[in-house]
Amino acid sequence: MNQVVGIGVDIVEVERLARSLERTREFAAKVFTERERAYCEARAHPAEHFAARFAAKEAFLKAVGHGILEGIPLLAIEVVREGDGAPELRLGPAAARALKEAGATRALVTLSHAGGNAVAFVVVQ
Ligand SMILES: CC(C)(COP(=O)(O)OP(=O)(O)OC[C@H]1O[C@@H](n2cnc3c(N)ncnc32)[C@H](O)[C@@H]1OP(=O)(O)O)[C@@H](O)C(=O)NCCC(=O)NCCS
Repeated sequence: MNQVVGIGVDIVEVERLARSLERTREFAAKVFTERERAYCEARAHPAEHFAARFAAKEAFLKAVGHGILEGIPLLAIEVVREGDGAPELRLGPAAARALKEAGATRALVTLSHAGGNAVAFVVVQ
């Protein structure tokens, strides 16, 4: 069994994320993969799901001990969901490298949204 080597949590105000999405078209393209955008936009309240995914990206950075400006593009940390299943993280090269440098081989994520906030918790092991 793999040992836990890092944890990270983040909370995002849904309204704030919605404002960032409205302000510029580039924001969504810079932060969310095509697959993430398709998932969120197909939901009744897209901003909740975008906010949860933003939180997941920041929680991952905390779990591997990286700052948000330290060279890992947020696009390299992707939340994917198959059907009704639990969300999973797919990592691009820069994020996979950070995971390895943290001494971990996998990253687990869980998401929740309620009361105008979205939260994500990441464990790396
Ligand atoms: C899992 C579940 C209870 C969460 O419901 P909820 O409390 O209304 O929702 P929350 O706001 O706390 O969490 C929503 C997030 O839960 C996550 N989630 C959904 N199904 C999940 C599952 N089966 N396992 C883990 N996480 C799940 C999703 O990431 C979702 O966010 P997203 O749509 O932005 O990706 C609900 O989605 C459900 O009943 N799903 C179907 C039944 C199921 O598969 N249950 C688990 C096995 S018995």
